[in-house]
Amino acid sequence: MTAPEERGSVPFLLPGSPPMRDTVAGWDHWRVTRHHFVPAPRLSLAEWRRLSPRKRTLHDLHRAATHANLPLLQTPMTKAVTKLLHGRIMTNALKRKPTTRAGVMVTGGGYQGKTETTCEILATFEDMWLQLHQQLNPAAVPGSRDLHVPVAYVQTPVTAKPKSTCKAILNFYGAPMHPRMDLPDLIRQVAASLHDHGTRALVLDDITRLRMHRADDQDTLDLIRAFMSMHVTLVLVGVDIPGSGLLREGRRDPHTGQVIFSPSKHGQVHGLEATQTERRFDLVELDRFRYDTPAGMSAWIDHLTGVEDQLRLLNAPDGMLTDGRMPEYIFARTNGVVGLLERLIEDGCQEAIDSGAECLSEALLEGIAITVNGAPGRDADAGEVPDVPGPAKVRAEPGKHRRSRNTVFDDLGPSASTGS
Ligand SMILES: Nc1ncnc2c1ncn2[C@@H]1O[C@H](COP(=O)(O)OP(=O)(O)O)[C@@H](O)[C@H]1O
Ligand SMILES: [Mg+2]
Repeated sequence: MTAPEERGSVPFLLPGSPPMRDTVAGWDHWRVTRHHFVPAPRLSLAEWRRLSPRKRTLHDLHRAATHANLPLLQTPMTKAVTKLLHGRIMTNALKRKPTTRAGVMVTGGGYQGKTETTCEILATFEDMWLQLHQQLNPAAVPGSRDLHVPVAYVQTPVTAKPKSTCKAILNFYGAPMHPRMDLPDLIRQVAASLHDHGTRALVLDDITRLRMHRADDQDTLDLIRAFMSMHVTLVLVGVDIPGSGLLREGRRDPHTGQVIFSPSKHGQVHGLEATQTERRFDLVELDRFRYDTPAGMSAWIDHLTGVEDQLRLLNAPDGMLTDGRMPEYIFARTNGVVGLLERLIEDGCQEAIDSGAECLSEALLEGIAITVNGAPGRDADAGEVPDVPGPAKVRAEPGKHRRSRNTVFDDLGPSASTGS
């Protein structure tokens, strides 16, 4: 048996299973622990060689954990989203007037960081808000539950309908649900949950799973209108929102760039009184990196510098990811999509450690297939899984390989583990 103090020397293995953010408790656990991971110390090859075999194994495990838990890095794109989203939520939260709050839509392709960026911004807001209110809901009604939940994070169910979307929200709060509740009942219950918990921002992630060409289009739009009457900042996150049909009824305000939806023509929307005000959304895009302008290239190289700084390989020269052809090569492999870069780097580091190379090179990365097919929690039909460019040898092949590349090259990756 290992002595407790020895077991205690692996603080990088956080206790319990990874937090699911789709309930109040899960979200809160994630929010509080999200910066707790401590990366492995930087050791030179000589220092690593001086470790005892046991310490070496532990250190290697810690390095693997470090590469599997790469932090979010600020990019010019996340900066733009943060500025708008944080600003909007804060102003709305401080508003005392009973007017409708403008919402925010965050759009972008799959694996471009929409979910993680949005969650980080909302968690930062919540940290601040709770501090401001010293964990007390200032609007708590005497006699009601005074659990303060400033942020509600909800993932839109696959093949979502208005009722299942409401149920997902109620599920976040652990609110009681009766199987026979109809849509107006469910919406009233959602309104009550948001109000009783002092919720300021409601995130509906992957909103583009709501197919806007289906029969319940109008229901969905009315549902969104109803949510916006609830004095929360509604944050809708999705893949290619402009192309999804969600904005079909909206028009652009040429001055502010906001999308405006007219008030519903019905006096009542799902049993809630429809206010006669229009609904406004800021639409912000979280783009991928681009490699076609000097500014774009230098932002990409800055990002690679930031990633390289997180890696713990023992034979890695400075500029491993940024010198020579590497930025261009890595861009070609990932299209500048942060999530694909993360997959490539994580699996590349695993291979670099396993093979003893302890360094990332173009030759090593050529052997790594980026595997994102069948990633849990993603709906490929809703565009949440982007196209993945193959290694150069594949890209050079004539078109016939292009379609089948994902299945063909899954087998070639030395490390097929998805790690997520
Ligand atoms: N700014 C960033 N810096 C580094 N890695 C990031 C960044 N944003 C996202 N990632 C990583 O990319 C992966 C995909 O991000 P995610 O938010 O799930 O994308 P999306 O919701 O757009 O599909 C995640 O594993 C995340 O850790
Ligand atoms: Mg997402």
